[in-house]
Amino acid sequence: MTPSSPDAATAPVDADAAIAAVEPLPPSRRVSGLIEDVRAGFAKRPRELSPKYFYDARGAELFERICALPEYYLTRSEAGLLDAHADALIDRVRPDHIVELGAGSARKTETLLAACERAGLDTAFWPLDVCASVLVEARERLQARFPGLRVRALAGDHTAGLDHLPPRTGRTLFVFLGSSLGNFEGESARTLLGDIAACMGGEDRLLLGVDPVKDRETLEAAYNDSEGVTAAFNANVLNVLNRELDGDIDVDAFRHRAVFNPAANRIEAYLDVVRRHTARLGALGETYTFVEGESLFTEISRKFTPTGLDGDLNPAGLAREVDFFADRNRYALHLVRRA
Ligand code: TRP
Repeated sequence: MTPSSPDAATAPVDADAAIAAVEPLPPSRRVSGLIEDVRAGFAKRPRELSPKYFYDARGAELFERICALPEYYLTRSEAGLLDAHADALIDRVRPDHIVELGAGSARKTETLLAACERAGLDTAFWPLDVCASVLVEARERLQARFPGLRVRALAGDHTAGLDHLPPRTGRTLFVFLGSSLGNFEGESARTLLGDIAACMGGEDRLLLGVDPVKDRETLEAAYNDSEGVTAAFNANVLNVLNRELDGDIDVDAFRHRAVFNPAANRIEAYLDVVRRHTARLGALGETYTFVEGESLFTEISRKFTPTGLDGDLNPAGLAREVDFFADRNRYALHLVRRA
C-alpha cells in the first residue's frame, strides 16, 4: 500500500501490521486450558484457580497499578537494583541477545538495554509474553528510545516450554524478573527452570529477580494495599471466567485475602466467599455453589532465601554466580549460570 492511495495506511491497518510482526512461539508441550483448569480446580477443596488467568487486558492494567503502589516495594526495589548494577552486569555477560520471559511492558529491562548501548554492544532484545498487544507497545517505546535496536517480539506461554525459541549465536542473557519465579512451586518451578537451563550454553546467563523472606508486616502489606488495587486484581480473575466461560459468578460475593504462611515461606492469596450463591458456567455446563466461609485459592508468591533458591536452581542444573541485594535484603537479583 502506498501512502497516496486513498484508503491506505489507516491506524487500524498499522496496528494489525504491528501485531502481525509479533511471532508466535509455539508450545513445546501441551498445557491445560481454561475449561480443564477450572473443572479440576473447582473439584478440589479448597477450590483453586490457576494464576495464569489473571492477566487479561484489565488484569495487566491492574498489575501495572500494583507495581506503582507504595506498599508494593518489589518493583521499585528491583528497578533500583537494576539501575545500580546494570553496567556491571552487562560488562560481565556482554550479551548478544537478551531474552525476557514474561516481558510485559519491559520497563525494567530498558535499564539493561541502556547499559548495552553504553557498553557499545549491539544486543538484540527478544521479549516473550502471552499478550501480543503489550509486546507491540513495548517494542514501539524501546525502538523510539534506542534507534536501530533489533526487537524480536515473541508471543507465547513460557510455561509451555522453550524448545521453539529461535536459535541464537553468541551469548544470551535470559531475564526473569518481578519475583515471578515465586508464583511457581515444586514441579512447575523445576520444569520452568529446567526449560531455561536447556536453552543455556556455558556462556549464557539467567538474571533472576526474587523477593527475599522478610517480616510479615512488610510482606502482607504488599499484597493488601490500602487502595484495594490488589483486591481488584485478584477478583478480576472471576470476570475472566464469566467472560470466557459464559458465567454468572457474583464477583461482589468474594473478598480478597492475602496472608504470609511462614512454614512455606509464601504469600497465599484467596478470594473468600462472603455470601452464599450458586453460579453457572455455561461453557462447562456446570453450576457451582459457593458457601460462606469457603475460600478460593488463587495465587502463591514464594519468598526466597539464597539457599532456598538453590533448592530450585540446583536440580535444574543451574547455580548462582553473583548475588545483588537491595538495602536490608528488601529484594534480590541473582545472576545464574549452568552448573
Ligand atoms: N509476581 C507477582 C508477585 O508475586 C504477582 C502478584 C502481585 C500477585 N500481587 C499479586 C498475584 C496479588 C496475586 C495476587 O508479587
